Amino acid sequence: MSGTVDDIVAQADPALVVVTTASRDEHAGCLVGFHAQCSIEPFRYAIWISKANHTYEVALFATHFAVHFLGDQDRGLAERFGAETGDSVDKFAGLDWSLSTSDVPVLAGCAAVVFRKETMWDDGGDHICLVGAPVTVASAAAFVPLRVSAVRDLEAGHDPRERPDAGEGESSAAGEAEELQEIAVGFGHELTPEQVDAFRADRESSPDE
Ligand SMILES: Cc1cc2nc3c(=O)[nH]c(=O)nc-3n(C[C@H](O)[C@H](O)[C@H](O)COP(=O)(O)O)c2cc1C
Repeated sequence: MSGTVDDIVAQADPALVVVTTASRDEHAGCLVGFHAQCSIEPFRYAIWISKANHTYEVALFATHFAVHFLGDQDRGLAERFGAETGDSVDKFAGLDWSLSTSDVPVLAGCAAVVFRKETMWDDGGDHICLVGAPVTVASAAAFVPLRVSAVRDLEAGHDPRERPDAGEGESSAAGEAEELQEIAVGFGHELTPEQVDAFRADRESSPDE
């Protein structure tokens, strides 16, 4: 993708939220910049979760999720939920939180809304979209949004290019090559091993394009 698109989108400087959810006796949550109200009547809110995240595995089976709107004083929460992963730490340890009536963890001190998951949508990209209907306003505290520009130095706990099907020890370029082959096979045009290697080498030499 051209840098120009990235530059234009970056200037929109979205507000950050922490999305929490729960399923199968597990709690999870991550920092999210991809989110928006997506219907007025009925009210609907959409969030996008990276398939590489621990939160994704929990969100797949969840019935509800909570959206916490971070204020400019919440950098600590952004670090904890955006730079750590539930694969290796308990992000809720030591925090003030409680279970909402829908069994979703709600963090104290943030404006937060609990949503019932209405639909889940996978368009084949590296994030899935969850659309929710509001069930509870857990806290309506006023806030000045914490924006992406304020946390540019944070390194995400998971790069979205890490995919669960990439295979342990393989690079994300290898995972992408595998994915490309699957798509090609789906269209009846299996790539030769040379073509797969060439694609993989190209992605390894310029992984951010
Ligand atoms: C500024 C910023 C914005 C992010 N936006 C999203 C997002 O919209 N969706 C998402 O799934 N992850 C997003 N992430 C990445 C996750 O918050 C991060 O990988 C987190 O550590 C995943 O935690 P988990 O593995 O416990 O789910 C963002 C990270 C940062 C630093």
